[in-house]
Amino acid sequence: MFTTAFAKSKSNANSIPTDLVTAVDTLKKELNAVILAHYYQEGDIQDVADYIGDSLGLSQKAADTDADVIVFAGVHFMAETAKILNPNKLVLLPDLDAGCSLAEGCPPKEFAEFRAKYPDHLVISYINCTAEIKAMSDIICTSSNAVKIVNQIPEDQPIIFAPDRNLGRYVMQQTGRDLVLWEGSCIVHETFSEKAIVQLKTTHPEAEIIAHPECEEPVLRHANYIGSTTSLLKYSQESDQSEFIVATEPGIIHQMEKATPNKTFIPAPAMNNCACNECPYMRLNTLEKLYLAMKHRQPEVMLSEDIRIRALKPIQRMLEMS
Ligand code: 13P
Ligand code: SF4
Repeated sequence: MFTTAFAKSKSNANSIPTDLVTAVDTLKKELNAVILAHYYQEGDIQDVADYIGDSLGLSQKAADTDADVIVFAGVHFMAETAKILNPNKLVLLPDLDAGCSLAEGCPPKEFAEFRAKYPDHLVISYINCTAEIKAMSDIICTSSNAVKIVNQIPEDQPIIFAPDRNLGRYVMQQTGRDLVLWEGSCIVHETFSEKAIVQLKTTHPEAEIIAHPECEEPVLRHANYIGSTTSLLKYSQESDQSEFIVATEPGIIHQMEKATPNKTFIPAPAMNNCACNECPYMRLNTLEKLYLAMKHRQPEVMLSEDIRIRALKPIQRMLEMS
């Protein structure tokens, strides 16, 4: 009897309304919530968001919002950044397991040992890292401001750049600076096949190749344009070309097609033609989980106040320097 009643109430608690879009909208008003979504989220999540952007845009929105609740449709380091900026707000992440290979590939203990080898170096860390790594950094950057930030550092100041070696190499190329790189990479962007992209180009000779700087050098070499997700979207709108091979997570194509429905966007193929160009972490979030997170006001992103305070400084420096 008890088991049945418990099972019933549990299933009610998790029951999903048929009109999820309306249900999410109602909860948004009830909670005074803002939904922030990254371009790599599924299209149905992007469509209920108040703001869709790249990592920099999302941090700027999080720094600015007067909502009581931030529902972050993205990965953990993004929601954690929102929490660092808003300690008194409730920050919800639909699936707490939505991590990032770059963040996971840079453990605090190993990074502290690495950093200790270069005591006179300034540490610039890509935002795709944990709060602990941010707390050990001097400045945070994203793919859209990394070059700009490095260019503002005096020439004679040596720099450690972590954790993405591909973005780091791209920044070295653009700035002419010699950076000490942490050898991390993104499992999604390193999967693009140079050979398959070149082959695709032979059947679509007019198409422009646009790529995220997390891609490996052999892929970036073929790109007509390299930039963050927001700048790839902007470029695709402004370019005279009508066909694009998109070398980043294909979630961004949702907004590209919405902005210019007359243009064609071809996802760059991964090696072995697998679906590994989709970020497995980003895709853990679903519209159902987003609805349940708002309904139950969990899972909540939390972190220690000591780490938060230390991680806040380099994020604020980034926002000032952007
Ligand atoms: P953006 O800076 O373009 O948002 O990139 C984030 C990311 O995770 C790329 O893989
Ligand atoms: Fe991390 Fe790569 Fe996924 Fe971006 S696409 S969240 S860098 S694993």
